[in-house]
Amino acid sequence: MGRAGAAAMIPGLALLWAVGLGGATPSPPRLRLSFQELQAWHGLQTFSLERTCCYEALLVDEERGRLFVGAENHVASLSLDNISKRAKKLAWPAPVEWREECNWAGKDIGTECMNFVKLLHAYNRTHLLACGTGAFHPTCAFVEVGHGAEEPVLRLDPGRIEDGKGKSPYDPRHRAASVLVGEELYSGVAADLMGRDFTIFRSLGQRPSLRTEPHDSRWLNEPKFVKVFWIPENENPDDDKIYFFFRETAVEAAPALGRLSVSRVGQICRNDVGGQRSLVNKWTTFLKARLVCSVPGVEGDTHFDQLQDVFLLSSRDHRTPLLYAVFSTSSSIFQGSAVCVYSMNDVRRAFLGPFAHKEGPMHQWVSYQGRVPYPRPGMCPSKTFGTFSSTKDFPDDVIQFARNHPLMYNSVLPIGGRPLFLQVGANYTFTQIATDRVAAADGHYDVLFIGTDAGTVLKVISVPKGSRPSAEGLLLEELHVFEDSAAVTSMQISSKRHQLYIASRSAVAQIALHRCAAHGRVCAECCLARDPYCAWDGVACTRFQPSVKRRFRRQDVRNGDPSTLCSGDSSRPALLEHRVFGVEGSSAFLECEPRSLQARVEWTFQRAGVTTHTQVLAQERTERTARGLLLRRLRRRDSGVYLCAAVEQGFTQPLRRLSLHVLSATQAERLARAEEAAPAAPPGPKLWYRDFLQLVEPGGGGSANSLRMCRPQPALQSLPPESRRKGRNRRTHAPEPRAERGPRSVTHW
Ligand SMILES: *[C@@H]1O[C@H](CO)[C@@H](O)[C@H](O)[C@H]1NC(C)=O
Ligand SMILES: *[C@@H]1O[C@H](CO)[C@@H](O)[C@H](O)[C@H]1NC(C)=O
Ligand SMILES: *[C@@H]1O[C@H](CO)[C@@H](O)[C@H](O)[C@H]1NC(C)=O
Repeated sequence: MGRAGAAAMIPGLALLWAVGLGGATPSPPRLRLSFQELQAWHGLQTFSLERTCCYEALLVDEERGRLFVGAENHVASLSLDNISKRAKKLAWPAPVEWREECNWAGKDIGTECMNFVKLLHAYNRTHLLACGTGAFHPTCAFVEVGHGAEEPVLRLDPGRIEDGKGKSPYDPRHRAASVLVGEELYSGVAADLMGRDFTIFRSLGQRPSLRTEPHDSRWLNEPKFVKVFWIPENENPDDDKIYFFFRETAVEAAPALGRLSVSRVGQICRNDVGGQRSLVNKWTTFLKARLVCSVPGVEGDTHFDQLQDVFLLSSRDHRTPLLYAVFSTSSSIFQGSAVCVYSMNDVRRAFLGPFAHKEGPMHQWVSYQGRVPYPRPGMCPSKTFGTFSSTKDFPDDVIQFARNHPLMYNSVLPIGGRPLFLQVGANYTFTQIATDRVAAADGHYDVLFIGTDAGTVLKVISVPKGSRPSAEGLLLEELHVFEDSAAVTSMQISSKRHQLYIASRSAVAQIALHRCAAHGRVCAECCLARDPYCAWDGVACTRFQPSVKRRFRRQDVRNGDPSTLCSGDSSRPALLEHRVFGVEGSSAFLECEPRSLQARVEWTFQRAGVTTHTQVLAQERTERTARGLLLRRLRRRDSGVYLCAAVEQGFTQPLRRLSLHVLSATQAERLARAEEAAPAAPPGPKLWYRDFLQLVEPGGGGSANSLRMCRPQPALQSLPPESRRKGRNRRTHAPEPRAERGPRSVTHW
């Protein structure tokens, strides 16, 4: 571990000078799909309740086929197949007395003194556990949901309303992080009205409640809890641990640096019952380590210090899931977000490493070099590591050491030593993450769905880079899943149904994990997309099913190289030639917009009557825009064939072939006059150039939406070949049709 970010080293790491990152522009997605496009073509469904905000708790129940949603004063039960259908809702407002109390405490009656449902867990075969803020009076209830997939039930059990203190936050702006293990709830919340007493708390169940040492900044220092998971250590359930992910203000930072945010992973033993003489009803196995997500640089590392969300991707071995985490920065000089991936073994290694130690207030944090008592703090009482059967049997020196040394000296570094994916300079930050493992033709890939504070979901695939375990993230899609760009507050995935569920303040959305047809209509486009869910089936880009015979399925997620996979693909449609007319001295716009935002557009030009092709370079009269090529102050010798091709990953794909005809002003005028005299001219006041075009290309004037003209520099037009055929007899100026031929040997036509 060359870069073992140790606790005591924080001062040196604090500066967020993003060397080589600060000036970066965000990488564009390959495809950007708007809310309207997703709704019209890609099955986006949304759900919201009238006069209800703040959809935050999502719970996928595959067996019942339901998605349970917690929102302001409500719990809803939706169909996993289509959230817009067969929805049931349950009103669960806070009692009037609680709302009045809340209002007296100075909170806003209309926006804060409501019951915001923050937490939903599957409790047993018939009931859910739901907890909400209850107008700054946290409360929990059991919600009856029926036995199975029959007619959905949604009923509050009035007999069992529980105190929600230590389970749900008081403040609607705070998040709840919890996990239900058996009948016990492990949560990380503020357990008081003022929002100052932060605790990791175990409640419900039969055992006495357990919590962290209150108001001890070494244990927790203004934490914001993010996620909690139950992860077994080995085959012995006595060693099971609960892992907490949060961010907090660093206690270990040099005071001169002010308040520094750090991300953490904390652990406790499931069988912890507290100490006997000291740490009574408090955790005796609590440890925490710093979670680092940074980009190494010459002048120091760039830290993504604000953990936002963690997704646990299970592997075949349930002890070693992968942890996908999203981070943002707290810096005002440098804005960015990143995804870092951690292995459980690296987390465990940090907890087995040296403890961080501070001798006194005037001392620095160092690696503890003295004798560590036995059993080592952080170990669970079990047969695996000793003879202790309960934390109440732990010797006093173990309890004392545990109380004073909750922090580990070594940090947990991400796999590969750096972020898998980062976005710098974008006007949004990452808030949520869900990951799916997909079987593709050439192996397994992890697909990341990243929610942002701008109401979008980014779809990123993790592809191996060089030798494993190093990987890099490729941004495939940017999906605008909400109409109003509200921040994504929660996200759940159903790998079984291939659906993603996204919550925000304003609505819940549902979208499939793949939209293969959106990648394009030719083999090369499908292949270049590198979407492990999709493959070219010989006719279209469709869903890839690993079980189906592979002979006709073409997919190359790893390299995205279509030159071998798609060569000899007969389905490639021939490139049609479009005609464009221009008048000397005016401008012409040659439209060509690649589907992929990651492609580079290349223009080549073949002058009329000449066989050689030249590359069109940006110069004084030509301007490349995102939608095409603008030619200014046209000259007669600009006439010829313009070829537009998209270049992506070294592969050139022809997109459009436009033949430009530049007429002299006199020619154009003569044509216009001839048109005026023509009896066939449609009535009504018209612009001269429109008449002119009608004369040259009858039928062209009819397709009004393909007319893209702008005065005072008009005379540009693109016409489909059919109209060309119809207009042949009246054409006064037209070059001979040219044989379609490849301009350069590298291009596959
Ligand atoms: C989902 O349900 C809505 C409302 O009934 C319907 O309009 C839509 O077509 C359904 N979508 C799918 C994919 O079944
Ligand atoms: C589930 O828990 C609820 C609440 O404690 C209880 O009323 C119900 O009987 C339980 N159901 C089963 C099947 O155990
Ligand atoms: C973010 O930038 C994109 C273009 O880069 C723009 O379309 C969008 O409106 C911006 N969003 C906000 C919230 O500024």
